This record gives sequence, structure tokens and C-alpha cells, in this order.
Amino acid sequence: MHNIKAIIFDLDGVLVDTAKYHYLAWKQLAEELNIKFSLQDNERLKGVSRMQSLEIILDLGNMTLDPATKINLAEKKNIWYVEYISKLTPDDILPGVISFLKSTKVDSIKLALGSASKNSMLILNKLNLTDYFDAIIDGTKVSKAKPDPEVFLKGAEALNVLPSECIVFEDAEAGVEAAINAGMYCIGIGSKNILKKAHLVFSGFSDITFDKLKLY
Ligand code: G6P
Ligand code: MG
Repeated sequence: MHNIKAIIFDLDGVLVDTAKYHYLAWKQLAEELNIKFSLQDNERLKGVSRMQSLEIILDLGNMTLDPATKINLAEKKNIWYVEYISKLTPDDILPGVISFLKSTKVDSIKLALGSASKNSMLILNKLNLTDYFDAIIDGTKVSKAKPDPEVFLKGAEALNVLPSECIVFEDAEAGVEAAINAGMYCIGIGSKNILKKAHLVFSGFSDITFDKLKLY
């Protein structure tokens, strides 16, 4: 890995295990709508915006609804989700994340957040992570959902670096595709079987430091 100047992190499922809370809240909504929704179905929702996630669920149930009802349902899911994440503390940061973030500071690497979530600031603040980032691009700042590269390109722009100088950490298929579409080096966090398009996959941050990454 050469000439890396910046790292862009997805939030949900990379820095903190909120993916399970998104799943639980969507599952609750799916049950209310009598739609079967499995953990496998949930993979398709990772990295995808709130409204698009709802569309995928409605599609699973062959259900079409008017726009106003859809907005209400998405809002309902978000209320349940925010209830879950309001209990987050710095203890919920995934293993190895803090020491990895610190290891990047030694090399003056710039850090950005690149998440589709409109709840990003709430989560970062709960976890005391906000100050690690030089730029935060979240769901309130983008109009095109992953796999569109917008969120990561905006991150690179805010950090004043080229896409080719960025590494992206992602746990979602749509997110890996977005990073590749942005022309960035993508490291998957999760399973190689799911994140097939990533340049490299780790199961988590426990074994990674920035020094080790430079060897790849
Ligand atoms: C992230 C998660 C998705 C979620 C999206 C929007 O990308 O991986 O599962 O749907 O953010 O999150 P929000 O908090 O705005 O509903
Ligand atoms: Mg994610």
C-alpha cells in the first residue's frame, strides 16, 4: 500500500456494532407488516439509506404503499432504532478500533467518516469518537446512497486528498462497491464470503495497526 494519506471509515458495523440494532428495529417493523425478514435479507440493507431499506423490505413482502405511509413507517423504525442507540456507551466501540485510530495519528494520516446514517453524529458523540475525525460525511450530507461513491468522494474532497490516496473500511457489500467505484482501496470488515469485492478482508480491528497495513 503506497502513498496513503487518508482513511475513511464507515460507521455502522465497522466502528460500532449498531448493525444489530438496525436489524432488530427493521425486524420489528417487518413483523408488524407481516413480512418475513431474515438475517440474510438484512445483509442487503447494510450501508443502504433508511428509505431504500424500507423499499427492500416492502419488496420482500410484495407490498406497495403510498409515499406518506412509507415516511411514517421509516420514522417509526427510526424511533425504535434511536431508542436502542441511546443506550450506547464507549464500551460498545468494537474491539481494536481505538488502538487502530490512535495508530493512524502517529503517521499524520487524516481520518474521515463516510456513513449513510443520519444518526452518525448522535452515535459518534455517545461513543466519544467525534474528535478523531477531520471530516464527517453522513446521511445528512449525501443524496446518493452507496454503492454510489458520493459519500467517499465527498470525504476525500473534505480532506483535500485524491481518491487514490484513501483507504476505506466497510462492512457492507454496497459500501465496498461504493469505495471501489470511488477508486479507493477497500478493506472489508467481516466475512470474505460476503465482501468478495474488497481488496482485503479482516474480521475486525483486533489484529490491525496502521504499521501492519503498510506491509500490504
Ligand atoms: C448505515 C447502515 C444502514 C442504515 C443507514 C441509514 O449505512 O448500514 O443499515 O439504513 O446507515 O441509517 P439511519 O440511521 O439514517 O437510518
Ligand atoms: Mg456499515
